[in-house]
Amino acid sequence: MTTAILSALPEEQSGLHHTLEQPVRLTHAGRTFWQGYLYGQPVVLALSGIGKVAAATTATALIERFGVTRMVFTGVAGGIGQGVQVGDVVVAQDYVQHDMDATPLFARWQVPGYASVRLPCDPALSALLSAAAQSCLGQAALHWEPPRTTPTGGPHLHQGLMASGDQFVTSAEVSKALRASLLAAGHEVLAVEMEGAAVAQVCIDYGVPFAAVRAISDRADDQATVDFPRFIRTVASRYADHIVRGLLQA
Ligand code: ADE
Repeated sequence: MTTAILSALPEEQSGLHHTLEQPVRLTHAGRTFWQGYLYGQPVVLALSGIGKVAAATTATALIERFGVTRMVFTGVAGGIGQGVQVGDVVVAQDYVQHDMDATPLFARWQVPGYASVRLPCDPALSALLSAAAQSCLGQAALHWEPPRTTPTGGPHLHQGLMASGDQFVTSAEVSKALRASLLAAGHEVLAVEMEGAAVAQVCIDYGVPFAAVRAISDRADDQATVDFPRFIRTVASRYADHIVRGLLQA
């Protein structure tokens, strides 16, 4: 069993690169892939770059060229669900492509040819990822500065729907509207990012188990352009280090 660990940006998995044993570097489709071992398990580390097409290309290469048998995305997202705060972690149960609109030919957000608007992740792999995330959330290494403002302490693990689209959301108005329109159709979304739904779609096509974990870097609001780079620079890779270690040692 070979696990692909996929992220959009180098900062989202830099620690894993340092931990990789017997590393072999390969270039394919204009990307760099690192084969090796983490905690005794064969892995391929890959960076997709930003956006759904880049993510789909990378996921396809990981399956076709590198023969990975399960795929894990680790990175950051903007929290748009109620109570989904900076520093929290979201494990996706399923995905929607929030910029897909083939109405009136198909239902809003429906990717034509798929069973439903929601693209499911693999339940067993997602459960392993959630357990790994939950067990390291209390660790000091993941404490986010400046201190969180939520009264309930934290950080917290959330599991549910994530939305992907080719848009970095930097307005409370836009994220509120996105959340409300999905909610009106019965879809309660927790977080927004730019790659996961494309990887989910590729993995459904190939029958490869897929799971995704995202640390919340910002609230997809007017502060996002400040919060996102700060989070990426300071703690994003620590989340990947701890959660991936927990997953691979499970
Ligand atoms: N990834 C992290 N923050 C995001 C945001 N605000 N919009 C889209 N993708 C993101």
